[in-house]
Amino acid sequence: MRLDKFLAHTGFGTRKGVKGLIKGKQVMIGDTIAKDGKQQVKPDVDTVYVRGEAVKYQEFIYLMMHKPQGVVSATIDNVSQTVIELLQPEEQLVGPFPVGRLDKDTEGLLLITNDGTLAHNLLSPKKHVDKCYQATISGIVTKEQQDRFKMGIILKDGFNCQPAELEIIEVDDAQQQSEIKITIHEGKFHQVKRMFEAVEQKVIYLKRLSMGPLKLDEQLALGEYRPLTEAELELLTEYK
Ligand code: URA
Repeated sequence: MRLDKFLAHTGFGTRKGVKGLIKGKQVMIGDTIAKDGKQQVKPDVDTVYVRGEAVKYQEFIYLMMHKPQGVVSATIDNVSQTVIELLQPEEQLVGPFPVGRLDKDTEGLLLITNDGTLAHNLLSPKKHVDKCYQATISGIVTKEQQDRFKMGIILKDGFNCQPAELEIIEVDDAQQQSEIKITIHEGKFHQVKRMFEAVEQKVIYLKRLSMGPLKLDEQLALGEYRPLTEAELELLTEYK
């Protein structure tokens, strides 16, 4: 890997920006002063020092975000703020992207990484990764609907959903609203909202609680994020 890329990846600025560090003789590869950003470094073999301090290289980042409403699950957007723009500038430099999409008005667990293999495996329809959501529904969710979700809902466009587990948490007759939890095993566009549309009801609040073995850390405020713990990374091993 080029030295300038290595330094950009480890949070020392843009590739252009790290030029100054190298020019100022503040970067060493082993015991040799680096001269040029184009020099090659092997992150697993070479020790790179910036101002005398060894730089820790981590190829991949894994962040859990409590996505707030109003931001889009994308890397770039012409209109709205993206989840990537909520990250620190040095984290944005390593090429992170959200694993799957939550709608702009959906909150909850969002995994952000630059590990393409992990993302591919977690999103692969073949893997049937469970996604659990909490939702507020306008209307009264009934036992009969619960059975229909269990059988597999047919969306208005004719798509046949896999069976989903619908749990009725609370029904408020006065407000004509229901609190539910739903676990789905696939990830079609607007899936939960479209499943309820298929039974003539409307999702008015949606929050993802889990994705596969990852559970939302409720200590995270909306918009906050943190690196995955060792234990959480361990849980993802089968998808790497
Ligand atoms: N289903 C939806 O309808 N929206 C989401 O954001 C996630 C699942």
